[in-house]
Amino acid sequence: MSPTVITDVKSYVLKPDKHNLIVVRVETDAGVVGVGCATFQFRPTAVQAAVDEYLRPFLLGKDANQIEDLWSAMFYNSYWRNGPVLNNAISGVDMALWDIKGKLAHMPLYQLWGGRSRTAIPAYTHAVADTFADLCDQINGYLVEGYRFIRVQLGFYGGTAADLPLPDQPLEGSYFDPERYLSAHLALFRDVYGRYGDRFQMLHDVHERLTPSQALRLAKGAEPYNLFFLEDPVPLEQNEWLGRIRAQTATPIATGELFNNPREWIDLLRNRDIDFLRIHVSQVGGITPALKIAHVAEAMGVRIAWHTPSDISPIGLAVNAHLNVHLRNAAIQEHIEVPQNTREVFEGAPEVRGGFIYAPEEDGIGVSFDPAAALRFPGQFKEHPWTQSRVIDGTVVAP
Ligand code: GCO
Ligand code: MG
Repeated sequence: MSPTVITDVKSYVLKPDKHNLIVVRVETDAGVVGVGCATFQFRPTAVQAAVDEYLRPFLLGKDANQIEDLWSAMFYNSYWRNGPVLNNAISGVDMALWDIKGKLAHMPLYQLWGGRSRTAIPAYTHAVADTFADLCDQINGYLVEGYRFIRVQLGFYGGTAADLPLPDQPLEGSYFDPERYLSAHLALFRDVYGRYGDRFQMLHDVHERLTPSQALRLAKGAEPYNLFFLEDPVPLEQNEWLGRIRAQTATPIATGELFNNPREWIDLLRNRDIDFLRIHVSQVGGITPALKIAHVAEAMGVRIAWHTPSDISPIGLAVNAHLNVHLRNAAIQEHIEVPQNTREVFEGAPEVRGGFIYAPEEDGIGVSFDPAAALRFPGQFKEHPWTQSRVIDGTVVAP
């Protein structure tokens, strides 16, 4: 196969709607262009600098066909590695190279990897409200759309923060009370299941907000309500507790969106401490590592539920759809509707039909990115108050 020479690598930070998105565009001498998602919304210009200052000079003139070699070289040539900024930068290039390979091979990515395990992947979406009545209104709408899996959250992560008994001169931050959150959500699971029964399966994201013993109380208390999974019950730094929690409850446990380093998932899979792996593909460096991780997970009986939040580009959303149609141990795909301005910049984002997501059938990833349209929505970083989370006495905790 003759080389497909990389002639340019460009990065884009854009904020078409709520989040800063990062896109990498790779051009080649074959006239084939690939695009990739490098979205890390909390440090967008750091990722952009990593692409522009370090990956672009390294890649110019290289053969875009050699994805495996280029990924390894990009990963190791920073020496210090396995962090969110460099992994996202590498992911943007990696996905673009796979996009190019699919276009050169004239097939969609899932076909390139060996075809499909399923027709479409079941989708779940987010119902979040401050009251049970408003939550049920959202659930009712999603049931009409055909969803059979719905994540239910009362208030933001950590629950509703109204009238907390804060100390004098409280420190600046986003406060919550883990005990109030825990009891409110055990009541919520009971009430939702009491109203809807098995019409749909609930999911819930604890989002790192509980101690291990509180997390076990929530997981055990949720058992009668047959959750599809309980996500991120403890902070990433307390991963080693997950095995103890899982061993004492029948509620399936999911985690992974925060993982960058293989040391964060290897033992969890080896020990079967979790039921679902929720890795964010660009956070581990893109498609190349994601395929390898998914294969290890399959061997260990752990299923895949790639993190697909609102802070991901439609390119990343489509990559997850390809992975999920292809991988036998893919279980479900998270889905947040792609907002209007974002659709003006990206075309081809997969949509939910009857509760399922279908992989694009176009060559490559199947999502186009319009750099000219992106110029209308320049990146605008702002602090996210919710990432400075505190419990009542003011202690900063994992957000
Ligand atoms: C999820 C995630 C998101 C994250 C967000 C952070 O399960 O979808 O927890 O909601 O909070 O991606 O920016
Ligand atoms: Mg989550």
